[in-house]
Amino acid sequence: MKTLVTGGAGFIGSHLTDALIARGDEVTVIDDLSTGKPENLEAALARGADLIEGDITDRGFVDEVVQAVKPSTLFHLAAQGEVQRSIEQPSFDATVNVVGTVNLIEASKNIGLDRFVFASTGGAIYGEGGRIDLPATEQVTPEPLCQYGLSKLAGEQYLALYRRMYMFNSVSLRFGNVYGPRQSPKGEAGAVAIFGELLLAGQNPTVFGDGQQTRDFVYIDDLIDAILTASRTDVEGPINLGSGEETSILGLLDALREAGHALNGDGPRAGTTFEPQFDRGRPGEVKRISIDPSRAAKELGWNPTTPLAKGLPETLKSIGTHKQTTPSA
Ligand SMILES: NC(=O)c1ccc[n+]([C@@H]2O[C@H](COP(=O)([O-])OP(=O)(O)OC[C@H]3O[C@@H](n4cnc5c(N)ncnc54)[C@H](O)[C@@H]3O)[C@@H](O)[C@H]2O)c1
Repeated sequence: MKTLVTGGAGFIGSHLTDALIARGDEVTVIDDLSTGKPENLEAALARGADLIEGDITDRGFVDEVVQAVKPSTLFHLAAQGEVQRSIEQPSFDATVNVVGTVNLIEASKNIGLDRFVFASTGGAIYGEGGRIDLPATEQVTPEPLCQYGLSKLAGEQYLALYRRMYMFNSVSLRFGNVYGPRQSPKGEAGAVAIFGELLLAGQNPTVFGDGQQTRDFVYIDDLIDAILTASRTDVEGPINLGSGEETSILGLLDALREAGHALNGDGPRAGTTFEPQFDRGRPGEVKRISIDPSRAAKELGWNPTTPLAKGLPETLKSIGTHKQTTPSA
């Protein structure tokens, strides 16, 4: 099967590309390498994946690649993924996340694609968890509190429109807070990657707000299973992919500390205690969120099976290994 993955050099996209190659697909990746890295695709490229560098906001480029590859399934993960940047640069956010998505949908419609799989967000689409019962189900009317949540919602709505107008077959997967190996600690979004690096470096984490804010964490391997299954079905519309559980940021730090202990035997480096330093809360960030995975359980047969107690040590191990093999890091 021929598949196209946008954003395939990123955290989630590179794991997805590995899984598609492993199941025997012929995979082409589009990525502008703005946050993604070719190193993430080293194994996949060695096994025949193709990486084409380019920007999804360039309609001519998108048309050309989609026409040349003629994939049967397209996984659209390329995005501007940062809440704060979406607030500071809303036009840029809309250009990448809305115009880029429309470019891909249009190009796909013209080749008669079988299935379009869209990476949406469960963390930023619903709005404030205090407004609704948690975990949020897909029936809740989204009321995003930042431009990023809105631009993802617009992508979902374009897909719904194209289904009505052209019977265009798609699914919008609303990811929780995904974590695992290869997540970049450079952005603002990957709390586990950021805190994990600090823990291993013997430094204290900075927490924005009081640390009582909650998020729904999902491990990368569980997420990839769900994406692959969703791509093989005809399930439509939005589907939450999360644990259904709220974990506070302070709870996450405790779990990381424990994972660090288990890894080292002696916990964080001597001289530090891995204690949070508090800073002002950031705009656009919800206080509480968790997303109900019942629809995914019912229609995809999917249940996340990796608790934080298992996923965090795996993630820390990978950060440690990466540090040892990357002298410049
Ligand atoms: N990581 C999470 O917790 C999470 C949660 C909800 C939704 N998502 C969504 O999942 C997708 C993947 O996220 P990720 O965490 O792997 O982020 P990432 O930044 O690691 O991956 C995004 C990839 O898209 C590429 N990209 C960005 N703009 C592009 C453009 N204009 N043209 C071509 N390529 C471009 C980047 O270089 C990068 O490789 C995104 O759509 C994101 O919004 C992620």
